[in-house]
Amino acid sequence: MGIYSLVTGRRGASGFGSASTAEEVSQGIDASSLTAIITGGSGGIGKETARVLAKRGARVIIGARNMGAAENAKAEILKHNSSARVTVLELDLSSIASVRSFVRDFDSLSLPLNLLINNAGIMFCPYQLSQDGIELQFATNHIGHFLLTNLLLERMKKTVKESGVQGRIVNLSSVAHIYAYPHGILFDDINDISCYSDKRAYGQSKLANILHANELSRRLQEEGVNITVNSVHPGLIFTNLFQHTALLMRFLKFFSFFLWKTVPQGAATTCYVALHPNMEGETGKYYADCNEVSPSKLARDQSLALKLWDFSIKLIHSVSIHNHHP
Ligand SMILES: NC(=O)c1ccc[n+]([C@@H]2O[C@H](COP(=O)([O-])OP(=O)(O)OC[C@H]3O[C@@H](n4cnc5c(N)ncnc54)[C@H](OP(=O)(O)O)[C@@H]3O)[C@@H](O)[C@H]2O)c1
Repeated sequence: MGIYSLVTGRRGASGFGSASTAEEVSQGIDASSLTAIITGGSGGIGKETARVLAKRGARVIIGARNMGAAENAKAEILKHNSSARVTVLELDLSSIASVRSFVRDFDSLSLPLNLLINNAGIMFCPYQLSQDGIELQFATNHIGHFLLTNLLLERMKKTVKESGVQGRIVNLSSVAHIYAYPHGILFDDINDISCYSDKRAYGQSKLANILHANELSRRLQEEGVNITVNSVHPGLIFTNLFQHTALLMRFLKFFSFFLWKTVPQGAATTCYVALHPNMEGETGKYYADCNEVSPSKLARDQSLALKLWDFSIKLIHSVSIHNHHP
């Protein structure tokens, strides 16, 4: 799938392409036996993904920082689908304590967990540290999702064991992963303001999303666990993600309108990877426009993925010890 396919909407091997919508790729799929968590389901692509998963019958748990926006999203979904099963739970991915608290709240519901969609994200913010003292884009886009996934993994494994149904984890990455720092991840200078570039920090966090998916996929295969882990680039969709660069992007979009997707098209690749029978057993891969594509060389680097895994564990551990939450 290249620029030509993106612009023309030409379908790839999956039978879908850049013009396919989330409803189209999930047409006829019965997800009523599935429970899904989606982070950042209060707006943008996440809200559309939550809507379509619920339309296909899945029970959907939206993890959201802005509870008002998430309750509005839930009300909107229910307005058009009164039988939708949607629950909103508070989750701030930039805070390790909040991720732990979300998992406790989810555990108290005693639900199975089949699908985890790590969708929430921020982009191009000015330099800022999270309340745990981690650069904000890395903290929100990668560390929060890394911890969330690890804390939910036992429940997913239990669900697979009891139901016999494959579990699926989807990380929302971006084509921007190709524009990370020159060596990928700033392991030694993750918080260094003098190295900070708002664009490269976003690229770094999106590279981390792919490396995380690949390393987790490798570990689960080694363990013989029937849970797949893939990452996706949803396309270019004009959402609130562009809030820090809205004027410039509006200008650029005017000249590059043919590269952009609608929100229903933007949610298609996530829904395809999460629900479609074609994706049975596919793991450790990267998808765009509902078809497998090759990510950057750094994203395919297994030793970098392992290094990031160890680094993330140590970082979370050091913050947790500091905050007295081992
Ligand atoms: N749009 C694109 O062109 C594009 C391209 C490539 C990749 N992506 C990726 O797609 C994903 C979704 O993007 P989008 O376009 O739908 O963006 P969006 O409209 O800005 O939605 C992002 C969602 O993430 C939530 N969020 C942000 N920070 C959070 C935090 N600390 N804790 C919990 N939730 C948080 C937001 O909630 P609030 O309401 O609280 O802010 C919102 O619900 C992101 O991972 C993004 O990197 C998007």
